[in-house]
Amino acid sequence: MDGLDSLRATWLERIGNAGDEAALEEIRVAAIGKKGEISLKMRELGKMTPEERQAAGPALNALKDEVNSALAAKKQALADAALDARLQAEWLDVTLPARHRRVGTIHPVSQVTEEVTAIFADMGFSVAEGPQIETDWYNFDALNIPGHHPARAEMDTFYTHRAEGDDRPPHVLRTHTSPVQIRHMEAHGAPCRVIAPGRVYRADYDQTHTPMFHQVEGLAIDRDLSMANLKWVLEEFFTAYFGTKVKTRFRASHFPFTEPSAEVDIQCSFEGGTVKVGEGDGWLEVLGSGMVHPKVLQAAGVDPAEWQGFAFGMGIDRIAMLKYGIPDLRAFFDSDLRWLRHYGFSALQVPAVHSGV
Ligand code: PHE
Repeated sequence: MDGLDSLRATWLERIGNAGDEAALEEIRVAAIGKKGEISLKMRELGKMTPEERQAAGPALNALKDEVNSALAAKKQALADAALDARLQAEWLDVTLPARHRRVGTIHPVSQVTEEVTAIFADMGFSVAEGPQIETDWYNFDALNIPGHHPARAEMDTFYTHRAEGDDRPPHVLRTHTSPVQIRHMEAHGAPCRVIAPGRVYRADYDQTHTPMFHQVEGLAIDRDLSMANLKWVLEEFFTAYFGTKVKTRFRASHFPFTEPSAEVDIQCSFEGGTVKVGEGDGWLEVLGSGMVHPKVLQAAGVDPAEWQGFAFGMGIDRIAMLKYGIPDLRAFFDSDLRWLRHYGFSALQVPAVHSGV
C-alpha cells in the first residue's frame, strides 16, 4: 500500500517528540482514534479487491501495532522521566545527623523521694499521704501542740485567710508531715508502718531554708517497739541511702508529740570544705524523732495502753544536698535549666535498694 512508510515515519516521529502525556494522548487520537488517520486508512480496506486487501491488511495492522507499542513505550518513558524529576525535587538526605533534642531530667527531690521510698519499702513501710492545706487540729492540737504552745509561733506558720465574720480557726499550710501520722492512724489504726513524704511550708528563707521544702515522716506502731528499733531502722536507712556504713548519734531533744524525743545526727567529715557522710568524727543533724506521745495515739483513736511506737521526720532536700553535694537549697526551686541539667537524673536511673545511685 502506498505511503505506509511515510505514515509510519510521521507518526513515530510525532510520538517521539511528544512533550507530555496530554500531547501523547492527542497524537493517539489523531493516529488510531475512531477518526484517526490510520483508522480511516483501515476503513478503506473494505473498498479494496481481495488481492489488494491481502497485501494492505497485514501491513496496516502491523503499522497500527507498531504505533500502539510506540505510544506505550513513550508513555512509560514520560512516566519514568516524571518520577525521576520528582525524586530529584523531593530528594532527602537521610544520612544527615538528627537535630539534637534536650531531654528533661528528674529533679533531685523526686529522685531522692523515690530512693527513700524504695529503702523503707524494703523494711516493710508503705507510703501514706495527707493534704498540704491542713486544719490546725491535725497540724497542731492532735500532735499535742495546744494553742498557747510556743511551737506554733516557732514554726513560722502560714495561715490561710478567713472571710470577715468567719471565726473558725484558719487552715494552715502544714508545717511538717507529722499530721499524716494522725490521719493514717485514724483511718487504719494499729499496728502500722508507714512513711509520708511530701511538701511542707514555713516562712523562712536563707541558704538552708526555703518557704516550701520536703520532709519524710516515719511512723511505726506495734505492741512493744522501742527506741532501739528506731535506731536500727534509721541506721539501716542511712547506710542503704548513702551506700556506706553510717553511724548515728541520738541527742536528747524535745517535741510535743514524742516522749522521749531525740534529734539524730549522722557521722561525717568536713575536711577541705566538703561534707563527707559516713567518715570522720563530725556530726550533722538530719532529723527529729522519738517515741510517739500517748496523747498523740489517743487523739488518733489508738489505745496507748495497748500500743506504742516511734516516729521521725527528716528533711528530704537536706539529705539530697548531702548525698549529691548540692550547696544551696534555694537553687532547688529556682527552675534554672542549667542547674536542673547538672543535678537532675536520667529517667532511666531507677532507684533501687542499696543501689547507691
Ligand atoms: N515534725 C518534726 C519537725 O518538723 C520532726 C519530727 C517528726 C520529730 C516526728 C519527732 C517525730 O521538726
